[in-house]
Amino acid sequence: MLLKDKVAIVVGGGQTPGETIGNGRATAIEFAREGARVRVADRNVDSAHETVAMIDAEGGAATAAAVDVTDEASLAEMIAACVSEHGRVDVLHNNVGVSLAGGDAPVEDIAADAFDRVIAINLRGMVLACKHVLPVMRRQGSGVILNISSMAAWSAYPFVAYKTSKAGVIALTEQLAYSNARYGIRANAILPGLMNTPMAIESRVTAEKSRAQVVAERDAQVPLGRKMGSAWDVAFAAAFLASDKARFITGVALPVDGGSSVRRG
Ligand SMILES: NC(=O)c1ccc[n+]([C@@H]2O[C@H](COP(=O)([O-])OP(=O)(O)OC[C@H]3O[C@@H](n4cnc5c(N)ncnc54)[C@H](O)[C@@H]3O)[C@@H](O)[C@H]2O)c1
Repeated sequence: MLLKDKVAIVVGGGQTPGETIGNGRATAIEFAREGARVRVADRNVDSAHETVAMIDAEGGAATAAAVDVTDEASLAEMIAACVSEHGRVDVLHNNVGVSLAGGDAPVEDIAADAFDRVIAINLRGMVLACKHVLPVMRRQGSGVILNISSMAAWSAYPFVAYKTSKAGVIALTEQLAYSNARYGIRANAILPGLMNTPMAIESRVTAEKSRAQVVAERDAQVPLGRKMGSAWDVAFAAAFLASDKARFITGVALPVDGGSSVRRG
């Protein structure tokens, strides 16, 4: 068990509704399978409870918590409640991110308030979650922060707020890694590519384009096996990076993309 006796918070550990499993829920379940006690935090607390019920059904240990990453007090309370329940925070996994759902658009069309909203959810929320967990991890002399970025940060992506926020997440992760290495804290970013998750698929289905067409078009673009990844691929990478087996790895931005990032030109 990679995470035996670790205490992990998965922020955004609920689930965007849809046919497949999302990154946050899969990661919370995988952490529990690897032996962690997991705090599943989400704005949609019913969805967090569903994740907890799935973990309970497998014999894992998890509790649900409400959090809104746009509200600093709520993030501070999430960390404080975990410390009061478990005495520590070994892993903070920042999964929350939105694009079109936040009103994102190409730069020439972006509304200022939509840009602010996406940045507040995707970047400011991670900054503030880290701000409140770092004193705990520094006291412990150990801890792991995992930030979910996106291949959108490195590749052509049409919507300005998502791309710039996810590039900011990589810069944040590098800064966290460098300035906290002396305290035994590691920070790494994961860059999912084309994934078969509800957020990626359901938001692209239209009257003109069926779910099967969206899936087929995206599958065809992936070098490895001509198939998108699933949320489990992100979860497996996260469990490794969160574990002591990754003890010498910090400050990396790890693509989980079936080879899409090596296709240039
Ligand atoms: N799905 C993909 O193809 C893909 C690709 C690249 C990157 N990502 C990144 O993966 C992460 C999410 O994974 P997913 O797409 O599977 O979604 P998900 O199913 O994990 O859902 C995200 C969760 O975040 C919660 N949430 C939204 N706003 C919140 C807020 N303000 N406060 C607290 N919780 C909030 C939602 O309720 C939901 O449960 C995001 O950071 C996303 O940008 C996804």
